[in-house]
Amino acid sequence: MKIAAKVSKDYQANTDCLVVALKPQTKISSQCVELNNATGGAIDRLQDNGQFSADSAQIVNLMVPKGVGAKQIVILGTGNKKSMSTEDVRELLSTLAKKLKALKVDEATFELDALVAKSDTTTVTRHLAEALGDAEYAYIKSPESVRGDKAGKEFEATFWCADEQSSKAAMQAAATGTAINNGKTLAKNLGNMPGNVCTPSFLAKQAQDLSQTHGLKVSVLEEADMADLGMGSLLSVSKGSREPAKLIVMHYNGANDPDEAPHALVGKGLTFDAGGISLKPAGKMDEMKYDMCGAASVFGAVLAAAELKLPINVVAVIPSSENLPDGIANKPGDVVTSMSGQTIEILNTDAEGRLILCDALTYTQRFKPKTVIDIATLTGAVIVALGHQTAGVMGNDQGVVDDLLAAGDTSLDHAWQLPIKETYKKQLKSSFADLANIGGPSAGSITAACFLSYFTEDFRWAHLDIAGTAWGGASGKLASGRAVPILTQYLIDRC
Ligand code: BES
Ligand code: MN
Ligand code: ZN
Repeated sequence: MKIAAKVSKDYQANTDCLVVALKPQTKISSQCVELNNATGGAIDRLQDNGQFSADSAQIVNLMVPKGVGAKQIVILGTGNKKSMSTEDVRELLSTLAKKLKALKVDEATFELDALVAKSDTTTVTRHLAEALGDAEYAYIKSPESVRGDKAGKEFEATFWCADEQSSKAAMQAAATGTAINNGKTLAKNLGNMPGNVCTPSFLAKQAQDLSQTHGLKVSVLEEADMADLGMGSLLSVSKGSREPAKLIVMHYNGANDPDEAPHALVGKGLTFDAGGISLKPAGKMDEMKYDMCGAASVFGAVLAAAELKLPINVVAVIPSSENLPDGIANKPGDVVTSMSGQTIEILNTDAEGRLILCDALTYTQRFKPKTVIDIATLTGAVIVALGHQTAGVMGNDQGVVDDLLAAGDTSLDHAWQLPIKETYKKQLKSSFADLANIGGPSAGSITAACFLSYFTEDFRWAHLDIAGTAWGGASGKLASGRAVPILTQYLIDRC
């Protein structure tokens, strides 16, 4: 998806498709006199025939119109609302993008003044870029094509602006939307890959590739390195798997001062979660290939930050492992020692995400981060609480939580706060270790975050539970690319 802004409006210019937004009016064509005249009064006739009234999301298309350079005109109704929320705009643009996809349009010129008037240039261009990107996305069934390759021709969009100033705003918003879209595409591709292809080693290779293409500093810790560091919790999860665990570290240094403290993103990279000895039921177990979507969204956000050349330092830490049953796998009742020194009684081997994250969080401390966000498909309970629409957010610093909530609202990658309180922490008491890895049947998302809170006491931290938003829901049985938008926006807002 490529998008460029242009100030001049030229109806004779060649384009596969001219998309024009119009609002309801007694005489709709008064909004587009030049176009109406050029096409011999096509807009008037559409209205007179009752074929177009500019209702919200009404779309009509004129094939091979006379009098213009476009091979096709798509007319989009904006409806009557005086002003539209970002959600309204996105909804409308998603409908439009899907229609263009159905019409097999991959190059188009957009004249969306009627929509901009109800919102603003930045919102419209940014979400146009993302809506076109989402509609264009198709999973390519080849392990080599994680990044870059497109299923079809890349969509090329030209956005007509009223003046120089709005064209500047449009270019900047389009760049943001495009970078987020590229990050989402990477996250979707990684998420959709089967677990036998997307292994911890494969993720490590992706990081190395990103270091080549985007100048990131990457290091990968092997199991022996993790053993030296005392990561007994993380390593206990990977024990039952033949795939070696990896701890992937990526540095994006965009700040003027390379020593400026970074913001840390820590992503759960469980490339397949069978549950271990506490085996999951067979139905839908295939979906546990998505248990690395936290890691995938960290990859996507780092890619977006690099593409946008954000003046900020970011360190990404990705603990990656499989969770499988085996003769030497974790057993319920086992006690392990984390890198922090705290011991953990593993009452359920399926609560493995927190076991790999806790050591990764302790490790992150060495970068003296300004803030730490961990992103994880951590609990089924968050789907019960918030569905596939909204991610759960919890943390030890209300400022960080508020910043994330705000980033979610701006990017439309929404999150909602759940409480972390002492009364929930009590549920993690163990008779045999400092902590149990589960807190009983109630408040599962909260007790999971409470567990992590014991490993984040030395920094400002928030946790995003994306088990509901990373796949499924409106995106079908496919990865959604979330939480790339909220994370990228969070980083943009820190600049
Ligand atoms: N990866 C799962 C969480 C999950 C479940 C994500 C369903 C998406 C859909 C996680 O590792 C897990 O198994 N969590 C358990 C925790 C429980 C044992 C306390 C869960 O949510 O059931
Ligand atoms: Mn699990
Ligand atoms: Zn898991």
